[in-house]
Amino acid sequence: MKVLVTAGPTQEAIDPVRFISNRSSGKMGYALARVAADRGHEVRLISGPVSLQPPNGVGVTPVVSAQDMLAAVERNLDWCDVLIMCAAVADWRPRNPAAGKLKKGGGAPTLELEPTPDILRRVAPRKGGRIFVGFAAETEDPESEARRKLREKSLDLIVANDVARPDSGFGADTNKVVLFSRDGGKHDLPVMSKQEVARHVMEWVEGQGKNAERIGS
Ligand code: CTP
Repeated sequence: MKVLVTAGPTQEAIDPVRFISNRSSGKMGYALARVAADRGHEVRLISGPVSLQPPNGVGVTPVVSAQDMLAAVERNLDWCDVLIMCAAVADWRPRNPAAGKLKKGGGAPTLELEPTPDILRRVAPRKGGRIFVGFAAETEDPESEARRKLREKSLDLIVANDVARPDSGFGADTNKVVLFSRDGGKHDLPVMSKQEVARHVMEWVEGQGKNAERIGS
């Protein structure tokens, strides 16, 4: 299969030297890209700013802002069979980023924010037969939030991540996730490495691919 993965945070400029962003190391998305490539899939990775080595054999498109990431996903969508949106996309950006560095002497600035594009919602009309996988970093009521996002973002699978735990989420090498699928399925996985989480996600995706082939044949 052709697998498009997004990873890492996006950065939204306040001025040329400052930005707002999300807490994300990119480890989960890079693990997905590596595991998918090791399992014989063609993989393209669209990555926000992270300090990780790209996996062998994976083409990386570096991006900075949510707008850049949207454009990169749109450019690669026709190519892919599977879109895995693992990136922690910033939800807001400064409405008017300053062209020059804001100086301290000018007083504390007031930032007016505007929403960034929701990438999954924007590409949903072009989904066709593609498999869409999303991630949800939650601190409260992960199940109902994850199921809401599964529905509202046209996803086939959502990986809900309890980021309130110290052994899960941002920067950790392990994750505690629950997989919710469109057909109502729920897989509560124990704490495991991000590599192992990636393997579970890819096994699920491959199972869907096989079903689609059977239906199509
Ligand atoms: N996502 C996206 N575009 C955005 C924000 C998020 O495509 N602008 C994707 C993420 O990559 C993830 C999924 O949507 O796969 C859920 O992201 P999350 O941040 O948990 O959800 P939000 O839509 O931001 O919802 P909320 O703020 O209510 O948690």
